[in-house]
Amino acid sequence: MSLLQLDHLYKRFGGLEAIGDLSLAVPEGQLLGIIGPNGAGKTTMLNLVTGYLRPSKGQILFDGRRVAGLPPYRIAALGVSRTFQIVQPFHEMTVAENVLVGSLFLSGRRRSIAEMRRLAEGPLETVGLQHRAADPAGALTFGDKKKLELARALASRPRLLLLDEVMSGLNRAEIGSMCDIVRQVHRAGTTVIMIEHLVQVILTLCERVFVLDFGHELFQGAPGEVMQHPEVIASYLGKQLEREVQPG
Ligand SMILES: Nc1ncnc2c1ncn2[C@@H]1O[C@H](COP(=O)(O)OP(=O)(O)OP(=O)(O)O)[C@@H](O)[C@H]1O
Ligand SMILES: [Mg+2]
Repeated sequence: MSLLQLDHLYKRFGGLEAIGDLSLAVPEGQLLGIIGPNGAGKTTMLNLVTGYLRPSKGQILFDGRRVAGLPPYRIAALGVSRTFQIVQPFHEMTVAENVLVGSLFLSGRRRSIAEMRRLAEGPLETVGLQHRAADPAGALTFGDKKKLELARALASRPRLLLLDEVMSGLNRAEIGSMCDIVRQVHRAGTTVIMIEHLVQVILTLCERVFVLDFGHELFQGAPGEVMQHPEVIASYLGKQLEREVQPG
């Protein structure tokens, strides 16, 4: 059984069909990459899975359970966690407190603040920010804010982690370090779906690639297959790769 399954999913915004008849099955343990041009519906798809948006039609199954239309906090409690394309930490709170907010979504019994602080230590260590735990989040560099965003998502100990462009705006070294973190999280047993414009990153990291083109599936397959698909190259990959190899 798939951990996540989208069945004939639709999302309309007025006259615009952002997602149209989209089906997708993600087995537990997979690291899936999602690529596609701007406005393809990638973030919308993620918003549907996490309950930030309600589908116009279709069903979403998480671990066999229908979740379409449930509020975000209920879906989070089932084990789905996400990062946001635009980082939005609480600037006045410390780095550790920001991560702690993520652990509020941990399911099960109530926990003391002291226990939650301890639980925040693991994710901070995973992203390499433990030495910044007591600093205000606003003092972090943009790259470290991206890592904090990921640590916060990890604090709820998700079974499914959804990453919306965690690499965007990072420099080359930061991208390398973020790739290592994602790999580590995946190896520890988390199913990961990552949306990314950096095709090189997707091809290196992911086991399977899904190409979304204006709400529809254009292609899905192994990274090597995607690179050889003429339609994918024509619609997206060609332009994107040209951009990535350009200096500066
Ligand atoms: N809340 C909304 N209300 C109206 N239209 C929306 C809303 N959210 C997204 N859209 C539209 O739906 C389409 C898909 O947007 P979405 O943000 O999902 O694309 P994306 O693939 O994530 O793009 P990008 O790569 O730029 O992040 C776009 O045309 C966008 O303008
Ligand atoms: Mg987006």
